[in-house]
Amino acid sequence: MSPMASSVINILMIITILASTSHAQLTCTTQKFTSNIRYDHCSDLPQLGSYLHWSLDTVKNTVSIAFIAPPATPDGWVSWAINPTGDGMEGSQSLIGYKASNGSIVVHTYNISSYDSIVKGKLEFDVTDMSGEYSDGVMRIFATVGLLENGQTTVNQVWQVGAGVSQSGFPARHEFKEGNLESKGRLDLLSGEISGGGNGNSKTRKRNIHGILNSVSWGILFPMGIMIARYLRTWTSADPAWFYLHGFLQVSAYTIGVAGWATGLKLGSESKGVTYTGHRNIGIALFCLATLQVCAVFLRPKNEHKLRFYWNIYHHGTGYAVIVLGILNVFKGLEILSPATKWKQAYTIVICSLGLIALVLEMFTWFLVFKRKRSKTTKPHGSGAAKQQPLAP
Ligand SMILES: *[C@@H]1O[C@H](CO)[C@@H](O)[C@H](O)[C@H]1NC(C)=O
Ligand SMILES: *[C@@H]1O[C@H](CO)[C@@H](O)[C@H](O)[C@H]1NC(C)=O
Repeated sequence: MSPMASSVINILMIITILASTSHAQLTCTTQKFTSNIRYDHCSDLPQLGSYLHWSLDTVKNTVSIAFIAPPATPDGWVSWAINPTGDGMEGSQSLIGYKASNGSIVVHTYNISSYDSIVKGKLEFDVTDMSGEYSDGVMRIFATVGLLENGQTTVNQVWQVGAGVSQSGFPARHEFKEGNLESKGRLDLLSGEISGGGNGNSKTRKRNIHGILNSVSWGILFPMGIMIARYLRTWTSADPAWFYLHGFLQVSAYTIGVAGWATGLKLGSESKGVTYTGHRNIGIALFCLATLQVCAVFLRPKNEHKLRFYWNIYHHGTGYAVIVLGILNVFKGLEILSPATKWKQAYTIVICSLGLIALVLEMFTWFLVFKRKRSKTTKPHGSGAAKQQPLAP
């Protein structure tokens, strides 16, 4: 592997490690409710694309919750539970929401003392104000739950989604995938901290990896590769090295970019009910343009061919479009991901430095162009002077 390739990979690895330890802002903070209820806290639960919003009332010793999750099917169910005696399904005191036969969403309580004993009815604690709603593939259940102990501020929560409900309102068994098995943990009602959920902050990690792959490829490597093509070939000695370096950088950028693009599509398909249309459409446009660029290399007419002029216009135009859209989409993505501000600052610094370098090189290139033009008019052609590179900035 060339030293260039291994250094690119090293940089990627370092950034990936940094990103997996940094915290992104929660998605739940952008969620709103039709009823205009506001909750004091919210959390992106680490599994099953679920969210919990809540307000703790330390005087009444109750907690009002809104649980949001996409049921496994539109006719399925979603459930949020407190387990006063353990940490899984066994013993959990559950609220289950599903669509009744008349189409409205109903919420009922279920005493799940064991896997075989799921009894619709009273729970260990009082539950009031139960209601539910469904839209855009996402179900929301609301309730106010009495806490068992005075001054209690932590609970063991369990959440779940399933596919069907029987006529009598009995939820069908849920799946046994990782997400269904890891959807439990401790919830600190005061600080909002959650633990458990398996390696589940996987969603945040996936979003961060998506961000890194795309900002490195579309946001940094592509512009660098274009700068190399534009400025390095001004130097006679850099021919044909600039061409291979340009090609290498763009192929690396494309490979990493496609990987990042795929993670984006996956994230999009997993985030039911939230679509970042602009970011998504620019991403798709970028992928198409870059793929065209890669294909265009194979259709490149020879230097002296009369179509080469038009091919150059096309190739350069598409390249500049990729720079503009790429940088724009990195900033759009940073807005969505809302990582710690240092990431946005870091990217802004990188892109401004590249811009500054480009500006200096641009001026230098034009300076060289004029100098060569001058020496061409004063010196007789071909008298021992080095062969001049054709300049097409
Ligand atoms: C639909 O049915 C449920 C019980 O199955 C009932 O509680 C609810 O009021 C009904 N809603 C409407 C709009 O009729
Ligand atoms: C829940 O079910 C268990 C086992 O049947 C029972 O011992 C317990 O009293 C029930 N809890 C309530 C609140 O009914």
